[in-house]
Formats: sequence, structure tokens, C-alpha cells
Amino acid sequence: MPAMTIEDISAAVAGILARLRERLPDVAGEPELQALVASFTGKKGELTLLLAQMKDLPADARPEAGRIMNEAKNAIAREAGEVLDRLKARRVEQAMAAAAVDVTLPGFGASPGRLHPLRETLDEIVHVFTCLGFDIAEGPEIETDWHNFEALGFPPDHPARQMQATFFVDSPDRLVLRTHTSPVQVRRMLAGPPPVKIIAPGVVYRHDDDPTHSPMFIQVEGLMVDDHTTMADLKGTLELFLGEMFGRDVPVRFRASFFPFTEPSGEVDIACPVCGTAGRAGCPVCKGSGWTEILGCGQVDPVVFESVGLDPERWQGFAFGLGVDRMTMFKHGIDSIQHFYRNDPRFIRQF
Ligand code: FA5
Repeated sequence: MPAMTIEDISAAVAGILARLRERLPDVAGEPELQALVASFTGKKGELTLLLAQMKDLPADARPEAGRIMNEAKNAIAREAGEVLDRLKARRVEQAMAAAAVDVTLPGFGASPGRLHPLRETLDEIVHVFTCLGFDIAEGPEIETDWHNFEALGFPPDHPARQMQATFFVDSPDRLVLRTHTSPVQVRRMLAGPPPVKIIAPGVVYRHDDDPTHSPMFIQVEGLMVDDHTTMADLKGTLELFLGEMFGRDVPVRFRASFFPFTEPSGEVDIACPVCGTAGRAGCPVCKGSGWTEILGCGQVDPVVFESVGLDPERWQGFAFGLGVDRMTMFKHGIDSIQHFYRNDPRFIRQF
């Protein structure tokens, strides 16, 4: 058998490439393309078989033949790759046409977020009080029994503790989830001498759950302590504050009440936002009374001054605590506190 020459190899490679190029344009899908490529470079492919015949070449012709075949292999891979790209692009186009996506339509755009109504009310409250010269104070949400109750005049068995259904933390040091923001008063008075003029906004927790009571809600505490701070200062401050929040003409009423940490103590009502002071039988907000409670307040009880080491003969102060959730409900006529915590965007978008 005559020995192979380099010319034979060149001619055979040219033939392989010609056959490839003849068939490539008609390839309709990826499996067909894979089969075509395999028929040249696969285990029994034409080029592979040709490579096996290199042993019949004279030794000095083998490097050149190797180069020719390598080039052919690269050309096959490159040209098949181009066809594969075209097939993939065609598949995407077909999928888009099938899904009837018009890529020229404008997109949905990013919808900007907005503040939660509770945050908006809180910001408004903080704004009014900071304009009146109050500083902001903070305290921990997990409190000691002493800061939350005892220092505020709730002795261990005092029935007033039951007014604030408490979540206890399973710990040896009698920790609680704070039931109100009043322990921040205690922390502030322990931290340094009067004058004190603070508000303490924050989350509090109670074992409560109904349309007007949430297990987690937000309070804002206020405390002012100085040489001579009277009920008149308290009343003026709160009337001004409520006028800013609900409008100057909103009827406000002060009622006597009880808190272990204030004496005298009061609660403040505003006219029912649904039916006014006249009230309406069956009103879900005022239950027909025409008034709704909005906050608790009073003059700081001497027992609290004693707890924090201040002389009750020397200092006078007032304190108040309000529910931000309740206030937001009244402002917007919302019938259930639970809406605030359900994370339903349809609710939030209304404000
Ligand atoms: C207190 O928490 C007192 N610490 C307030 C205070 C501070 C009085 C300083 C005197 C001096 P009370 O339990 O009434 O008080 O709660 C205050 C406000 O929190 C209520 O007027 C109400 O608006 C709100 N509130 C109470 N419980 C809940 C609840 N479970 N869900 C939502 N809001 C509540």
C-alpha cells in the first residue's frame, strides 16, 4: 500500500471541512448539531479516523499534518459554536414570541416605599415635644422588675401590677418585657440630677389582644422634673400637644385616675373622632360616651423620687404616657389595632 502523503492529509481535511460547511446551515437543533460534530470529531468521527492514519506518514511530515488537523479541529469547534449561538438566540426569540412579551413596553418601575402610619405619628409626636425643648431618652425593652414596677411604687403584691398583664422572661433575675415606658423615667433620674425634660418613645409589651389592645405597642413617656413643676404645667403642655396632633379645636378632658407612680393622677380623653362629644350608641370607638382615653399622666409621686435618691421636698415633676397606636387609630379612624401589625401593603398604601 502506498504511503500517505501530506497532500493526502490536506485534501482529506479540506473534504471534511467542506462537508461540515455544507451541512451546518441546515442544522435545525442542538441534538442534530451535536451529532454532526461527533461525526467529524467523535470517537469514530472522520477527523479522528484520519488522525489514526498519521502513523502511515513519513516521520518528517507528521508535525505539519498534526498542525493541519489541529486547525481543522479548532475550525469545526468554532463554526459549530457559532451555529449553537444562533440556535440558542432563535430559541429565546421563539420563547418570547410564544409568551407574547413585548420587550419594547415600558417596565413596571420601582415603587418607592413610605413610612408606616405608626412611624409617622411617632415622628409627629417627637417633633412637637422636641420643639418644646424635651430631649429624647431610651431604655431597654427587657427590664428588671425593679425598674418596671418596684421603683415606680408597685410593691410585689400590689393589685396595680395586674393592670399591666406582664410577659415574664424566664431568668433568675426577674426580668420582664417592659409593660410601659415609665422605667425610662427611673433610669433617667438615676443617671443625673434634675432638671429633667425628656420624652422616651419605645415599644412595650402586655398580655393583651383585642381590637384596641395589641401585645406589642408603642408608648411615649414624658417626664419633667425641676424646682417648681406643677399640674398647670402638665395641663398646658398636654393641651398644646393634643392641639398640635388633633387640631386646636379638639375638645380635651382631664379625669382623675390612679397610677402608683403619680399623685395626683389623671387620664386625658379627647372627643370621639367618630361621633364627637355627643357620642352615639354602639360607636365602636367611644362606646357611646363621646370620649376616648388617650393618655395617663400626673405629678411624680414622692415614692418615685425616693426610689431614685432624689429629695421629694426639693423636686417637683410631672409625667405622662401615651399610646402611639391608639393615637394613630383615632387620627385615621382605624377600627382595629391589629391592622398595624399585619404587614398588608393594601392597608399601608392608604395613608
Ligand atoms: C401607662 O402605661 C402609664 N405608664 C402611663 C403614665 C405614664 C401614667 C406616666 C402616668 C405617668 P396605661 O396602662 O393607661 O398607662 O397606658 C397608657 C396608654 O397606652 C393608654 O392610654 C393606651 O393608649 C395605651 N395602651 C395601653 N395598653 C395598650 C395595648 N395593649 N395596646 C395598645 N395601646 C395600649
